[in-house]
Amino acid sequence: MFASRNAIKLAARSFSTSVPSQSKVAVLGAAGGIGQPLSLLLKANPRVTELGLYDIVNTPGVAADVGHINTLSNVAGYTAKDVDGLKKTLEGAELVVIPAGVPRKPGMTRDDLFNTNAGIVRDLAQACAEHCPNAKLLIISNPVNSTVPIATEVFKKAGVYDPKKIFGVTSLDLVRASRFIGDKVGKVVDVPVVGGHAGVTIIPLFSQVEGLSLTQEERDALTHRVQFGGDEVVKAKDGLGSATLSMAYAGARFADSLMRASAGEDVLEWAFIRTDLFKNEGLEFFSTYVKLDKNGVKEILPLPESISEYEKELVKNAIPELKKSETKGSNFVASSN
Ligand code: NAD
Ligand code: LMR
Repeated sequence: MFASRNAIKLAARSFSTSVPSQSKVAVLGAAGGIGQPLSLLLKANPRVTELGLYDIVNTPGVAADVGHINTLSNVAGYTAKDVDGLKKTLEGAELVVIPAGVPRKPGMTRDDLFNTNAGIVRDLAQACAEHCPNAKLLIISNPVNSTVPIATEVFKKAGVYDPKKIFGVTSLDLVRASRFIGDKVGKVVDVPVVGGHAGVTIIPLFSQVEGLSLTQEERDALTHRVQFGGDEVVKAKDGLGSATLSMAYAGARFADSLMRASAGEDVLEWAFIRTDLFKNEGLEFFSTYVKLDKNGVKEILPLPESISEYEKELVKNAIPELKKSETKGSNFVASSN
């Protein structure tokens, strides 16, 4: 289950443009709180050669607006009213980013979104399986711990499943963890975050950050802040939704990692994927270290041997909740017509 620290090299991060590539990227839910700034950041990325935007409403305006940004990519926006709009958005896509669905209000858990978002993700995944079965899917819609199993089951049912290509985007947890220790370290560093994307299933591995020394109190407080960082934003937005801008940044960063890997760079990331790491515990999905290449997942790396006892305990404690969410997602598709 664990790899030596030497096996793990952290990837350099930037919107590097050293290797040209052709990448059509589609955003489903493009007119929403995440969708709009995410579309902006993707339009600004010179690696993106075509941007397809889809939402049930308001997409043409978003497409016209970001379409004036002077990178050499074309932008098209479709709504549910456009004949074949979703098909046109998806055809030829290398990446499909899905932030479609409702966000939390104060007092809600991510799982409370299941009843609305499960059907949205199922139907959009079905369209992806039909129109771009080889695309990489980046699922942002919550609850990620269930929506990734949902998309997986849809692809299996359609006979086009490739576990290397379906990702739950947990990058916001990494971005938060990095920011929350930034001032202590004095520079921006990567913090691996593993597990899942909800409360105690979010596990920052501060033990893996070179030069970081924390007291037990600091470690506990920082871990809790990363696990419940989403609640901080939900509370501050006071009924108007959850994280959108930081999520757009994190999602654009993960999309860039996949495009850089497609262009031949060695990229290490962390994402919620199908893995055998916890097969013995009956768990199929876990966010862990993943090397990327042009096909998506090149190699899944186990958790480092050197993680602390405290972090090992957090992993152990996350497994029952992860299993519950995973089963709920798979059962939802099994019981859908
Ligand atoms: P939002 O309500 O602002 O936007 C959602 C958009 O989805 C809307 O424009 C809506 O019209 C669209 N939509 C709904 N059904 C659709 C469908 N069938 N097809 C296409 N588009 C559809 O919400 P938001 O703040 O952008 O959040 C979106 C989702 O992302 C939520 O579920 C939220 O919990 C999740 N989220 C995840 C993370 C993460 O770290 N993975 C972070 C933040 C938010
Ligand atoms: C987050 O972590 O900000 C998102 O999952 C949104 C939420 O509901 O907290």
